[in-house]
Amino acid sequence: MAKRLTTLDIATRKGGVPLVTLTCYTAPMATILDSHVDILLVGDSLGMVIYGFDSTLPVTLDMMIAHGAAVMRGSKRALVVVDMPFGSYQAGKEQAFMACARILAETGAQAVKLEGGAEMAETIRFLVERGIPVMGHVGLMPQRVNALGGYRYQGRSDSEAASITHDAQAIEQAGVFSMVIEGVKEEVARHVTAQLRVPTIGIGASPACDGQVLVAEDMLGLSQGYIPGFVKHYAHLAQVVEQAAKTYAEEVRNRTFPSPEYCYPLKKNN
Ligand code: KIV
Repeated sequence: MAKRLTTLDIATRKGGVPLVTLTCYTAPMATILDSHVDILLVGDSLGMVIYGFDSTLPVTLDMMIAHGAAVMRGSKRALVVVDMPFGSYQAGKEQAFMACARILAETGAQAVKLEGGAEMAETIRFLVERGIPVMGHVGLMPQRVNALGGYRYQGRSDSEAASITHDAQAIEQAGVFSMVIEGVKEEVARHVTAQLRVPTIGIGASPACDGQVLVAEDMLGLSQGYIPGFVKHYAHLAQVVEQAAKTYAEEVRNRTFPSPEYCYPLKKNN
């Protein structure tokens, strides 16, 4: 059986072969993606991608646990990281510990990810010292959409860029084993990546990072609605699904499905 990657394997990939990460929310998708990626991220983006919410804010700890456990059941090799949902960790370090402990114990995943910079450093240190591996998330933090006034890219001014660097350094010192940098210009991503000993994983943050992450449904062409400009479509699966549904509907309506080979006793295995 393939050995699962560990947080240490990921931390020691700084500056090496770029780390490949995709979001993943279900067991079958985990099985398909597992051998191709280093990290399966059970992102709270699942709130928008599969539950149809307008933001990640309504996502609950129970949802993250259910999807984290499913991704663990479907995978064998990739490191599985589960996002801490909004409201489950910001109130204090004890609250964060209890929520993270539930995630690790009830999913079997090896690490959690949480959004935040210097203001979250004390909490991150508390978690790491108690055996919870933490991936950080700086730059554009979608759980702060209401405070930011939208999903605008970050680090536009020199002071914003300096504050992202300060955040990244603060959470590195607190003990994260890697961090996501979201929605920043290449010069900011390059500078932050050069300052850190832990790997950076970019999304909408240029090739200057130590790895990349995309929402799998976005890059597969399955997501509906707004798709950020930094997403490359590696497939157009929505069209494939639509065509299959159309053909099935036609065959049911004109009674060509089920044909004899799909009726018991089955004459064909498929
Ligand atoms: O929730 C998520 O999927 C994420 C990634 C986009 C980094 O945080």
